Parts: sequence; structure tokens; C-alpha cells
Amino acid sequence: MRSDRLADRISGAARLMFAVCVLTFTIMATMAAVSSADAQSSVRPPASGDTGFSDPSVAGQVPGNALGATSDSELWRAVKSGTAGNVSIPDKNAGMLVQYEGQIWREIHNGMVPLYGAWAILGMIVLLAIFFALIGRLRIDDGPAGITITRFSALERAGHWMTAGSFVLLALTGLNILYGRSVIIPVIGLDAYAAIAQWGKYIHNYVAFAFIAGLIFIFFHWALHNIPSRSDIVWLLKGGGIFVKSVHPPARKFNAGQKIVFWLTIFGGISVALSGWALLFPFTTSLMTWFMEIMQTVGLDVPAWLGLPDPPYSGVVEQQMNQIWHAVMSLFLTTVIIAHIYIGSLGMEGAFDAMGSGEVDLNWAREHHSLWVEELEQELDEDAAKHGGSSVQPAE
Ligand code: HEM
Ligand code: HEM
Repeated sequence: MRSDRLADRISGAARLMFAVCVLTFTIMATMAAVSSADAQSSVRPPASGDTGFSDPSVAGQVPGNALGATSDSELWRAVKSGTAGNVSIPDKNAGMLVQYEGQIWREIHNGMVPLYGAWAILGMIVLLAIFFALIGRLRIDDGPAGITITRFSALERAGHWMTAGSFVLLALTGLNILYGRSVIIPVIGLDAYAAIAQWGKYIHNYVAFAFIAGLIFIFFHWALHNIPSRSDIVWLLKGGGIFVKSVHPPARKFNAGQKIVFWLTIFGGISVALSGWALLFPFTTSLMTWFMEIMQTVGLDVPAWLGLPDPPYSGVVEQQMNQIWHAVMSLFLTTVIIAHIYIGSLGMEGAFDAMGSGEVDLNWAREHHSLWVEELEQELDEDAAKHGGSSVQPAE
């Protein structure tokens, strides 16, 4: 009676599905029985009768004879924690099914790095916007003198723009690698993004060499001018005079703020270049092992501070550490350089000319680099004295 009522209720389609399910179940049961028979013929329990599971219910083995009824949680726990087994193929790395450190890498690379990176970059933009709203553009106090002096030669400017241009391209294409999936794909879709990402990757790979060349160039041209001096301390203590009108702490060719930007660009640049190189040519370097060992040798236990195991690191761990370092350092540099771009363009009247035409207004130079102007005037005087003439006036 009951089954009659049930049969009445189910529609024709449901009956068909029921039939398909029964058929599928029958086929699967038959296959399981056949393979179980196979398995029993080829894999036999040890003669002692010890199956390895002293108490089947505790060790996760479901009682019964069917294959697939074993839930070996200990085994999978070991696999998950990175235990490696033996494989007969040449690549012994394949013996490790789950690389444990990869889980940590994924958490940091997909979590903390993009999150704090976005906060840093957006935070800097907001700070600069607030600064601009409150203080406005830093003007030349006495107004332009109308007389200019040469600050950077054409070659120096070319070197700067090669470094700057390549950095901007690397930053944009790098940010695309890091944030593109979550920010750009929802807006333009997968296909358009795929094209952008592919071209971005080519640009990132090749423009990297221009950036490295730019770094070498600016290092050799400006390193001597960026050696810290006593006047830098005064400059820093007075906050560069940025917050108080008409206060201009003396500075030579580069002030303390610029020296900080310079050395961050050099050391940060070398650091992203090395880690980027390691990413470009995987498994050919041991930079992280090398760096950590040097640090430990000089008494700085950086791995312990960061909660990392002691070196040496495997090739895969090297790659993972390089990638995180590359992303962290490049996000940090991008944040710093945004402030540099602001002060070198919108933020300060007359600053851009230094890298535009190479000629800066004399009053601007006297306010921001008074010691440098004095040095130039002294050189001109000495030159004039040597040639028996009067002091040469700066070029107009
Ligand atoms: C894209 C927009 C940029 C603008 C408008 C800009 C502007 C300037 C200006 C005007 C100066 C000369 C400051 C002075 O008179 O001493 C300068 C110097 C410098 N720039 Fe840039 N820059 C830009 C991008 C970059 C980038 C991306 C980098 C590096 C990755 C960079 C690195 C430097 C360095 C190291 C100096 C010398 C030290 C200093 O003045 O801070 N610049 N820049
Ligand atoms: C100077 C030499 C550089 C080289 C050789 C280099 C190389 C690389 C390589 C091979 C990748 C991996 C790309 C991938 O996953 O397919 C990468 C990623 C990246 N690069 Fe660079 N790069 C360099 C400089 C820079 C600079 C200057 C910046 C930014 C200011 C930058 C920002 C990034 C970012 C944000 C990523 C994404 C990182 C991630 O997904 O974890 N790179 N770079």
C-alpha cells in the first residue's frame, strides 16, 4: 500500500532518475567488488596477520573488507605537514605531495602582503592629499628671481628619467600581477585582463633591465653628493622646514630627505632587482640562504626574529621567500616614491624644473640648497680669480 502511494507521487522524470541512480549504484558496486577481489589477490596482509592497525576503530579503519573504507588520518596528517616519501623518477621533489611551507607562503602572499601594501599606498596618497589641502604648494618665499642656474646636466636628467620611467612601468605591471585578479577582472572581464596581464608580464620582465641600468647610472653620478653630513641632522631636526613658513635649513646639493630617497632607491632597488632576478630564473640562486647565513655570521639572527627555520633553504622555499620579499620591498618603495613624485612636481614650486629643463631659479636654489649655491659661487669666484677676471654671474 505504502509503496503504491509513493509510486503514485513520483512523476515520470523522477522515476527515470531513480532508475539511473539504481543502475549507477549497481555498476559501482560491481566495480568495487571486482577491484576488491583484485586487491585481495595482489596485496596480502603480512603473514603475521598484523594489518598495521592495532585497533581499527581508533586508527581510522572502518571495519569490513571493501577497498576505500580506510581513512588513514595519520598518513594524511603526515602528508599535509610536508613529509616526503620515495619516488623512483629522477625528480625526488615529487616525493612530497604537499609542501607545508607553501601554506604559510599562501597565507602571507595572498593575505598580509596585498592588504598592508594597499593600506600603505592608499595611506600615503591620503596623507599627501591632506598635506596639500592644509599647507598647499610650497612656494618660493621671495618669488622667482628670474635668474637660473644649472642643477642637472642633460645626461643626469636622462639617467633620472630612465630610472623613473622604468620604475613606474615596473610598479604598474607588478601591481597588476598582485592586485589585477581582484581589482581589474571584475571590471573588464577575464579575456581583456588576460591580454593586459600577458603584455604586463613581458614589460615587467624586460623593463627590469632598464631599471637596473638606471640604478647603476644614478649611483655613480650622485652617490658622492649623498654621503650624510652634519647639516643633515639640523635639516632633519627642523623637519626640512616644510611645516614652518620661511624656515629653510641649510642643505648642500641634496638635502637629508633627498639623501634618504636616494639610498632607499639604491638599496631597495638592488634588493628588488636581486629578488626579481631570482624569480626570473627560478632555482638558479640561493640568495635567501646566503643572506640569512651572512646575517647570522655577523650576530644578527634574522631567521629567528622572523620565526623562520635556520638556513639553508630548499629551492622551493627560496622562491617563496624571494617572491614575498620582492612584493614587500616593491610595495614599500612604491609608497616612498609616491611622496617623492608629489614633492618633485605638484608639492613644491620650481622643483620640477631641476629634472625638466635642468635649470632652477636662483631664489629656489638659495632657499632649498643654500650651501650648494655657496659652493657654486665659491667655485665661480675661484675660477674668476684664476683667470684674472671678475666673478662670473650665474647663467640666465
Ligand atoms: C615620475 C615622476 C617623478 C618626478 C616628477 C620626479 C622628480 C624629481 C625631481 C624634480 C628631482 C630633483 C630634485 C632636486 O632638485 O634635487 C628628482 C630627483 C630624484 N629622483 Fe625623481 N621624480 C620622479 C620619479 C622618480 C622615480 C620613480 C625614482 C626612483 C625610482 C626617482 C628617483 C630620484 C632620485 C634618486 C633623485 C635624487 C634624489 C632626490 O632628489 O630625492 N624619481 N626627481
Ligand atoms: C629590477 C628588476 C626586477 C625584476 C627582474 C623583476 C621581476 C619580477 C618577476 C619575475 C616577478 C614575478 C612575476 C610572476 O609572478 O609572474 C615579479 C613580480 C612583481 N614585481 Fe618585479 N621585478 C623587478 C623590479 C620590480 C620593481 C621595481 C617593482 C615595483 C616597484 C616590482 C614589483 C613587482 C610586484 C608588485 C610583483 C608581484 C609580486 C607578487 O605577486 O608577489 N618589480 N617581478
